[in-house]
Amino acid sequence: MVWFGLCLILLAVVTGGRNMMVKGVNVSYDGRSLHIDGQRKILFSGSIHYPRSTPDMWPSLIDKAKQGGLDVIQTYVFWNLHEPQPGQYDFTGRNDIVSFIKQVQQQGLYVSLRIGPFIEAEWSYGGLPFWLHDVPGIVFRTNNEPFKFYMQNFTTKIVDMMKAENLFASQGGPIILSQIENEYQNVEGSFHDDGSRYVNWTAQMAVDQNTGEPWMMCKQDDAPDPVINTCNGMKCDETWKGPNSPNKPSIWTENWPSFLQGFGEEPYMRSAQDLAFHTTMFIIKMNGTFVNYYMFHGGTNFGRTSAAFIITGYYDQAPLDEYGILRQPKYGHLKDMHAAFKLCLQTLLYGNLAIEHLGDNQDAYVYTGNAGECVAFLVNNSSKEGVEMVFRNTSYTLPAKSVSILPDCKNVVFNTGMVNTQASTRSMQPVIRFDSAQQWQAFSEAVPQFDQTSLRSDTLLEQMNTTKDTTDYLWYTMRMELNSSEAQYMLHVNSLGHVLRAYVNGALVGYAHGTRKVTNFTFENTVSLSTGINNISFLSIMVGLPDSGAFMERRSAGLREVLIQELNFTNSPWGYQVGLLGETLAIYTDEGSSKVSWSQYQNPSTITWYKTTFDAPEGTEPIALNLGSMGKGEVWVNGQSIGRYWVSFKTPSGLPSQTWYNVPRSFLKPSGNLLVLFEEEYANPLNISLDTVSIDKVCGRVSDSHPPRVNSREVSGHYRWRPMPRVHLRCPKKQIISKIVFASHGNPSGDCENYSIGKCHSSNSQQVVEKACLGRRQCSVSHTPKSFGEDPCPGTPKTLLVDARCE
Ligand SMILES: *[C@@H]1O[C@H](CO)[C@@H](O)[C@H](O)[C@H]1NC(C)=O
Ligand SMILES: *[C@@H]1O[C@H](CO)[C@@H](O)[C@H](O)[C@H]1NC(C)=O
Ligand SMILES: *[C@@H]1O[C@H](CO)[C@@H](O)[C@H](O)[C@H]1NC(C)=O
Ligand SMILES: *[C@@H]1O[C@H](CO)[C@@H](O)[C@H](O)[C@H]1NC(C)=O
Ligand SMILES: *[C@@H]1O[C@H](CO)[C@@H](O)[C@H](O)[C@H]1NC(C)=O
Ligand SMILES: *[C@@H]1O[C@H](CO)[C@@H](O)[C@H](O)[C@H]1NC(C)=O
Ligand SMILES: *[C@@H]1O[C@H](CO)[C@@H](O)[C@H](O)[C@H]1NC(C)=O
Ligand SMILES: *[C@@H]1O[C@H](CO)[C@@H](O)[C@H](O)[C@H]1NC(C)=O
Ligand SMILES: *[C@@H]1O[C@H](CO)[C@@H](O)[C@H](O)[C@H]1NC(C)=O
Ligand SMILES: *[C@@H]1O[C@H](CO)[C@@H](O)[C@H](O)[C@H]1NC(C)=O
Ligand SMILES: *[C@@H]1O[C@H](CO)[C@@H](O)[C@H](O)[C@H]1NC(C)=O
Ligand SMILES: *[C@@H]1O[C@H](CO)[C@@H](O)[C@H](O)[C@H]1NC(C)=O
Repeated sequence: MVWFGLCLILLAVVTGGRNMMVKGVNVSYDGRSLHIDGQRKILFSGSIHYPRSTPDMWPSLIDKAKQGGLDVIQTYVFWNLHEPQPGQYDFTGRNDIVSFIKQVQQQGLYVSLRIGPFIEAEWSYGGLPFWLHDVPGIVFRTNNEPFKFYMQNFTTKIVDMMKAENLFASQGGPIILSQIENEYQNVEGSFHDDGSRYVNWTAQMAVDQNTGEPWMMCKQDDAPDPVINTCNGMKCDETWKGPNSPNKPSIWTENWPSFLQGFGEEPYMRSAQDLAFHTTMFIIKMNGTFVNYYMFHGGTNFGRTSAAFIITGYYDQAPLDEYGILRQPKYGHLKDMHAAFKLCLQTLLYGNLAIEHLGDNQDAYVYTGNAGECVAFLVNNSSKEGVEMVFRNTSYTLPAKSVSILPDCKNVVFNTGMVNTQASTRSMQPVIRFDSAQQWQAFSEAVPQFDQTSLRSDTLLEQMNTTKDTTDYLWYTMRMELNSSEAQYMLHVNSLGHVLRAYVNGALVGYAHGTRKVTNFTFENTVSLSTGINNISFLSIMVGLPDSGAFMERRSAGLREVLIQELNFTNSPWGYQVGLLGETLAIYTDEGSSKVSWSQYQNPSTITWYKTTFDAPEGTEPIALNLGSMGKGEVWVNGQSIGRYWVSFKTPSGLPSQTWYNVPRSFLKPSGNLLVLFEEEYANPLNISLDTVSIDKVCGRVSDSHPPRVNSREVSGHYRWRPMPRVHLRCPKKQIISKIVFASHGNPSGDCENYSIGKCHSSNSQQVVEKACLGRRQCSVSHTPKSFGEDPCPGTPKTLLVDARCE
């Protein structure tokens, strides 16, 4: 009985501890930092957008963010998902923002909520619902009553919803910071005085919501008090003027670990070292109090949600890749940096700063506390040969453009330029091939002709206003009567975007498209026309709505001018078909697919639907469709669109921007999954495959100059000094190290991408590493000569490089 009672008390203590945020906290700020219950804070945050993954992935994404040392999860709010029609709301499934925020709270992290409701975000229409386009008299994002009405209405809806669920920190919830508008400064000038009026109204409207927490406006140097202006960019430590008041803290809302990518564009690879350098400099040089990685997990632009020309995988190069797999060494290097900062926080936030110039481009930021605590950041800002850095009688060597962190002003625990974390290689393994023609059925989309259309106009219509964004596709059809005999004519079409496919009497005569940066284009081709009536049809295709810029409501797409020789058909009778027949009948669903008669697959043809079924692959690894043999179109699994694909638009290096397309496991049932593709070009579905996504190789490299790795369990202010670095390798769950592909202790040259044995090499390197690692999920090998028996080359600095296979 006594024990039972004690257990109850213990249980209460434990759960009380876990739900620390039940009591409201006071979030405030001054010029030094954000404060939580009066305590100065440096918070690391990462963007994870709830609709860009599936709810079953949320717990593990949040957990990985937490394990990576983040304190905060930041998300936008996606207005056009939540209010598809005025006053009709959707907060279910991937749109369940309340559930997402509660899951962040359950894992003990804070939330930064960027309500917008204009968000840009490489998201369709920058998050604005398309119906706003048709509100009489509306001008987006300026001092315009209709716009302000709907903006306030939705902002209030979201704030009220958060309040009703007690999600603001003042109520005991996780939300510590909210954002209104988004990078408005980029367009403010276009609206003259109304721009500034709108900024003032926006700030007041937000503050009047009484959330109990600070508000911010990113990239908004004139953000009125008490709203905090913040920075977005790659190098906010170098490019930003800082807060617009000495009483506001320095916040970096978007630190880009990679960058947005359009079809036809290469991925942007930002190194872990560069990211760590600028993040550290922002904190010490700018008094940075909050740094958010945009994105920490990018995820997937499912369906038609991505903005114009934006690829379906979003920020795959982020610390968590599109599938939620750790992208190494980026994830691990940031994790090590966060852990190093946590050793320094108290002194960094409350000590006195003195900056010592130790040489050209070399500084020491030294923070000292009242009880003699000392934290130092040694900065080598040089990219050219520099002098040696001597700090407190000790000499330090740093790579170019790097910072070393010394939590005791003596020992380096982290250097932004020296990566201790393993690199990993992702591999895609085909598990299902769709290579038999028998398993495919096809349905050709008909080319509509003028006589068959019911929507008519005497001019070329603007595309978005005609489709109302219900589809990417709009057919423009016309007739031309030729009185002379059959001949060749020059067909000239000018389009505002994005893609055009031209048909004369049912036959494809050509194809053209714009790009993310220049969406408009001209199509010209010689075509043969026959005597009598010719039916000319153009399929105009959008690859997402615009997401930025002033006057977005006036943006245009679709055909603008059509000439045949010198005859101008721009203002002549046109017939329209909005969307494809297959879309109207939803033939990508189980129910809809029976509404048309499919035929056996024979040869590739254009504007064709393909369907097949497949069983879910075993296991739990993420899976993706390899669409490398396809052209351009959209793909559905069990009726859910996994996004647009476009592999025929190659990057300058000759590769598709995206070959693999994420198929969330939660979209699948054990067997009989319906796979449907709509393909616009001549492409071969027989060569596609369903692949599992996994890490199959890990590689680590350390040398004498590397600091030891901070153990994140030691962050409470004490750490054990380990003088020599080690190579740590770790395979994903349920895998083991099956082979040591390369091991060299000595002076191997190169890095994990490309390496070879150097002049100095311990002959037993392979043996020692195999003994320590083979058959294990993870291992750690010390880099000291002692581990390898003998020093193969006394006096020469040593490196240990190990490349291993996981199975
Ligand atoms: C950083 O904060 C300290 C303490 O408030 C202040 O003295 C210093 O001027 C600030 N530095 C910058 C660059 O804002
Ligand atoms: C929150 O903290 C700030 C600064 O410490 C203080 O000025 C303010 O009164 C506090 N607010 C509440 C509601 O306690
Ligand atoms: C928002 O507008 C809807 C009508 O579209 C209305 O029913 C609702 O009361 C408005 N909400 C607020 C907070 O103004
Ligand atoms: C907006 O508010 C600022 C003060 O925060 C003021 O200087 C400015 O004149 C206001 N703009 C307009 C157009 O009223
Ligand atoms: C470092 O060098 C860059 C130019 O390469 C300069 O813009 C920046 O201000 C320098 N930073 C410091 C802290 O000196
Ligand atoms: C800073 O980097 C430069 C360029 O790599 C290098 O020559 C110099 O020695 C470094 N400085 C220190 C103190 O390590
Ligand atoms: C550095 O060395 C000098 C002379 O050896 C000594 O006087 C000084 O106290 C030392 N400084 C530190 C910080 O150890
Ligand atoms: C949109 O279409 C309607 C007719 O459906 C027309 O009245 C209006 O002018 C069009 N707006 C634009 C911006 O083209
Ligand atoms: C062909 O003749 C018809 C009837 O006379 C006329 O309407 C049409 O414009 C002519 N077509 C061309 C291309 O000249
Ligand atoms: C595209 O639009 C720009 C700006 O309006 C114009 O200068 C350019 O000539 C257009 N290009 C084509 C191919 O229509
Ligand atoms: C054009 O379409 C009309 C009716 O849809 C059809 O009668 C005619 O044969 C077509 N012309 C050609 C050249 O295919
Ligand atoms: C064709 O007609 C349109 C609409 O009247 C006009 O804007 C365009 O300049 C004309 N093109 C030519 C080459 O005359």
